[in-house]
Amino acid sequence: MAKMTASAQKIIHRGALLHFLADPQTHGTAAYEYFPDGALLIEQGRILRAAPAELLLRDMPDVPVIHHENSLILPGLVDTHVHYPQTDIIASYGESLLDWLNDYAFPAEMAFAERDHCQRIAERFIEQLLQNGTTSALVFATVHPQSVDCFFQTAQQHNLRMACGKTLMDCNAPPALCDTAASAYDDSRRLIEKWHRQGRLCYAVTPRFALTSSAAQLAAAGRLMQEYDDVLLHTHLSENLNELEAVRRLHPQAANYVEVYHQHGLVCERSLFAHSIHLSDEEWQRLAQQQARIAFCPTSNFMLGSGLFNSRCAQQHGVAVALGSDIGGGSSFSLLKVIEEAYKCARLRGDFIRPTTLWYWATLGGAHALQMDSAIGNFTAEKEADFIVLNAEKIPLLKRRLAQVKTLEEQLLLMAVLGDERLIQQVYIMGQAQYAPCAALPITP
Ligand code: GUN
Ligand code: ZN
Repeated sequence: MAKMTASAQKIIHRGALLHFLADPQTHGTAAYEYFPDGALLIEQGRILRAAPAELLLRDMPDVPVIHHENSLILPGLVDTHVHYPQTDIIASYGESLLDWLNDYAFPAEMAFAERDHCQRIAERFIEQLLQNGTTSALVFATVHPQSVDCFFQTAQQHNLRMACGKTLMDCNAPPALCDTAASAYDDSRRLIEKWHRQGRLCYAVTPRFALTSSAAQLAAAGRLMQEYDDVLLHTHLSENLNELEAVRRLHPQAANYVEVYHQHGLVCERSLFAHSIHLSDEEWQRLAQQQARIAFCPTSNFMLGSGLFNSRCAQQHGVAVALGSDIGGGSSFSLLKVIEEAYKCARLRGDFIRPTTLWYWATLGGAHALQMDSAIGNFTAEKEADFIVLNAEKIPLLKRRLAQVKTLEEQLLLMAVLGDERLIQQVYIMGQAQYAPCAALPITP
């Protein structure tokens, strides 16, 4: 009861404050607000106002203030492509995609036939997200419906805004991991009815990729997308050259990979395609025409040797991009590391992505990609108060370097490159402190 009273009161969080209002690629410096001494007014878990501290404290002299000294307050980070069942195979040794799936991902996912295992890993996964400042995500479960139940239950316990779905796969996978077109449809329907729009939860129809779904199963996924007009579509697209060849053989009727999905009604503004590395011009045009979104997953693309995502092409075609850790193909839960590798990926292509764009992708851009930008992603009035507090105190080299920077772009790049989970001092969910790192544990031999 005391807790409810406290959260119903107004409160101000004071510190440096950065949030995005639009895409810096199209809106330049008008795309964000940065207040070196800022303040965030919150009531009942929602943002009322973000402003320079001087103004807000003058207008609201009686509201209690939590002062985050030497800290930067940002919206919670959004991971637009991640597999919770692959938490414990992160950083598996050296195979490209199709071998990696057979050797590591599929065996790990078989263990999710057991409910206790689903529950245990869901809890560890969410702990990892929060430790790294990720407050929302679009998450692959496994083929087992109970893997979705356990994930959503755990997300609900933490009051997180999350999207997830049962993986659909009826061919080219171990029999223990296969469903059918009919059971995929029935199970997904039941899960949608049970979880979609329950509090902060959202369902995503989740065919794994075109190589593990028959045409009949993709058609069933398309039917679900028609019947439920606000669920998401989550899948992989054009990640690896051997995958592309196998998809051509399995779906010879389609002119290209994007058309395999498009023919079944799976390419729309609610679609999130992970990777999208080896796309033809026609495919870019189709994604743009249908307003589909892409999860750029550089840490995974480097680990699996999949290729260099063409962010310049995405920008030229006006296709919205956000960031994904793609755990366990990706090598870190931290979106700071994903930002760093995205920056390097562009450099390797001879391109350049501004740090403001990268942080936009990790916050409001991620929320936009998941159709969640009316609820989260920045600090405009009425938004849900999911935010993180960054403080470099525990990273002395970063602290020293930050003292030298002259521009916000320099600061944002530095925080991503030299930062890690030690930078995440606090995570607030709907205005409530959810996570603060424990005191350092003694190292025992
Ligand atoms: N393509 C199909 N399944 C997967 C997966 O689990 N991880 C990655 N990175 N790519 C995929
Ligand atoms: Zn993936």
